[in-house]
Amino acid sequence: ATSNKIKLVEVGPRDGLQNEKQVIPSEVKIELINKLSNVGLTSIEATSFVSPKWVPQMADARQVLTSITQKPDISYPVLAPNVKGLEAAIEAGAKEVAVFSAASETFNKKNTNCTMEESMNRVEAIMEVARKNNVKIRGYVSCVVGCPYEGPVSPQVVADMSKRLLDMGCYEISLGDTIGVGTPGSISNMLEAVLKVAPVDKLAVHTHDTYGQALANILCSLDYGIRTFDSSIAGLGGCPYAPGAKGNVATEDVVYMLHGSGYDTGINLDELIHIGDWISQKLGRSTGSRAGSALLLA
Ligand code: HMG
Ligand code: MG
Repeated sequence: ATSNKIKLVEVGPRDGLQNEKQVIPSEVKIELINKLSNVGLTSIEATSFVSPKWVPQMADARQVLTSITQKPDISYPVLAPNVKGLEAAIEAGAKEVAVFSAASETFNKKNTNCTMEESMNRVEAIMEVARKNNVKIRGYVSCVVGCPYEGPVSPQVVADMSKRLLDMGCYEISLGDTIGVGTPGSISNMLEAVLKVAPVDKLAVHTHDTYGQALANILCSLDYGIRTFDSSIAGLGGCPYAPGAKGNVATEDVVYMLHGSGYDTGINLDELIHIGDWISQKLGRSTGSRAGSALLLA
């Protein structure tokens, strides 16, 4: 029997904010992470040590990571695209780093200026430094069902890349529907291929809600035994190199669905709702969470 315990990885401070056009003050990012540290989350992706020329919003990565109040029972992973990023992350005290690649040549080129093969070599180099420094590495595979440039993506390519990342030493693979085009149909096909090469407890599903399919895709993934999901407070998010990609699925909506369906997340929904409202006000917009806006009126 599979467990009813779910782990949510809150990616709002990173995936949520990286695409914002307005420069968000570091203090707001820090306060967001500190607030999120009090609701029962066990993993909060804090920032990215990427090139500031590519993603200006994350230029304050060091400032953010060194200023937040880190709780001992919470992991604060950060993204690194290369050894330079990893070293800067370690220098700023990171204990967990996420590497990323995509199951699409064009997306890799647009997002990280390298081929899929070169990207695997970068991960290999990162792994070597990470091992020496006792840094845990999480691996992202993007475009797991569709690419904004190439269209539908082969489940086998996703499975092969996931296997390689696990073999290199990633403790978990987050399967990213980067542009939110997946449906329970395409997500099922993808998961069936990946589950042939990877144990279910090493997989996470990372959804964006562009087509309104994110909760359905999570429900479908639960049926396959997936118990770790990435989500973003207030449904913030998008990827600067994935045109048209909307926000990640809202953490509030995922928690509402899971609690209503008998799953245990350890997260306090009321507190989450207020943080979603707070950050949305800071960004000058209404929350992207349906449960959030409903419960604020209730
Ligand atoms: P490049 O231009 O080919 O790299 O970019 P380069 O080595 O030629 O370096 C260019 C400049 O960047 C140099 O500075 C480097 O020093 C600097 P200059 O000499 O010109 O002054 N640089 C860096 N600075 C800070 N930190 C670094 C770093 N590396 C180089 N780590 C590179 C290649 C990979 C660096 C670039 O393409 C990049 O940073 N890409 C990141 C893009 C990104 O962050 N995308 C969003 C995250 S992925 C995502 O959102 C998907 C996900 O959510 C899952 C899903 O939804 O599917 C995870
Ligand atoms: Mg994403």
